[in-house]
Amino acid sequence: MPRIAVLPGDGIGPEVINEGLKVLNAIESKYGVDFQEDMYPFGGVAIDKTGDPYPAETQAACLKSDAVLLGAVGGPKWDSLPGSKRPEAGLLDLRKSMGVYANLRPAVLYGPLKDSSPLKPEIIGDGLDVLVIRELTGGIYFGQRGREMVEDGYRAYDTEVYSTHEIKRIAKVAFEAAMKRRKKVTSVDKANVLESSRLWRETVEEVAKDYPEVTLEHLYVDNASMQLIKNPHQFDVIVTGNMFGDILSDEVSMLTGSIGMLPSASLRDDKVGIYEPVHGSAPDIAGTRKANPLATILSVAMMLRYSFDMEDAARDIEKAVVSVLEKGYRTSDIMQEGMTLVSTVEMGDLVVKEIRG
Ligand code: IPM
Ligand code: MN
Repeated sequence: MPRIAVLPGDGIGPEVINEGLKVLNAIESKYGVDFQEDMYPFGGVAIDKTGDPYPAETQAACLKSDAVLLGAVGGPKWDSLPGSKRPEAGLLDLRKSMGVYANLRPAVLYGPLKDSSPLKPEIIGDGLDVLVIRELTGGIYFGQRGREMVEDGYRAYDTEVYSTHEIKRIAKVAFEAAMKRRKKVTSVDKANVLESSRLWRETVEEVAKDYPEVTLEHLYVDNASMQLIKNPHQFDVIVTGNMFGDILSDEVSMLTGSIGMLPSASLRDDKVGIYEPVHGSAPDIAGTRKANPLATILSVAMMLRYSFDMEDAARDIEKAVVSVLEKGYRTSDIMQEGMTLVSTVEMGDLVVKEIRG
C-alpha cells in the first residue's frame, strides 16, 4: 500500500491538513484505492515534544514514504530560537534529506475569483496561469553561512552557490513542463552582478538547445518582479534559484487573489515528492476557522498527479474546487460582496460533496 507521511506542523497547518485528508479519503472511496496515511511531528510542535524540528522518527518515516503531505511550520513561539534550531530549519532539512530539488508552484487565477486579483481588470484579463519552478535544495539557502566577531560588532555571511549539475537538472524540469504548456521558459537571475547567475544563464542556454520548440527568455530578477505586475500574461514557465523563487512565488501568488489558493509540489527524479500549500502557518488566524484549505486540497491533487499517476482524480479535485467557487462559497481571505462566507471545515465539506457528485 502506498505510504503518505502527513506532517500537519504549526499554526493553521493541522486545520488545513484535516481538510486535505478529508478530500483524499473521498478520492480513495471513489477510485477504490487505499493509501496508508500516518501523522508525524514536525516543526514547532516537534521542537516542543523532542527539541528537534525534524525528529529522527519523522525523518525515518519520510524517507520510507511515497509522498509527504505537509501543512506549515513556524510561529512567534519559536522565533527567538537560534537559526539552526528553528522550525524553518526543519523544513530545509526535510527538503534536503529527501532530495526534492524541483519546487513547482502553479499560480492559477480561477475565473470565479478574477475580481480578487489586485491587478486592474484590463491587466489581469480573464485569468492567469503561470508556473513558477524554484530550485529547492541549493543556492543561498544551503551555501556556507556564518558569523564572526569583528572590532565593532559582527560580520555575517550567506553564500549563493550553484553547480552546473544543479542548474541543468532544474532547467530540464522547466523545459519539460513548458513542452506540455505554452512552450515558453523565462529564466530569472541576476547575471549582471552575480557569478553564480552567469553560470546559471550559460547552463540554461545549453539545456535549451535540446528544446528547439521552446522560446527561452532571460530576465534579471528586479525586472522580472516588475514585469509580473505590468504584464503577467507574458509568462508561462518561470525557472529560477531558491531565493529568487521564494520571493517571486509569493508575488505571483498574490496576482491570483490570495496566497491561500496556491499549492506546491517538490519533486526529484523518481515519483517521490513533498506536497504543501505555499502559504505559511499564519499564527494570527490559527484556531479561528478562517484558514483557506484550498491550497492544501489542491496540493493533494498535485500529489495524486505526480506521485501516484492519478491524473483523473487530480482533475476531479481541481474541478470540484472550481465548482465550489462558482457556487459562490468563499473563505474570508477571498470573500467578496454577495458571496457566502464559509469556515475552513465547511469549505472542505463542500469540496468533498462535489467529488462525491
Ligand atoms: C516557502 C517558505 C520557506 C522558504 C520558509 C518557511 C523557510 O517561505 O516555502 O516559500 O523560504 O522556502
Ligand atoms: Mn516563501
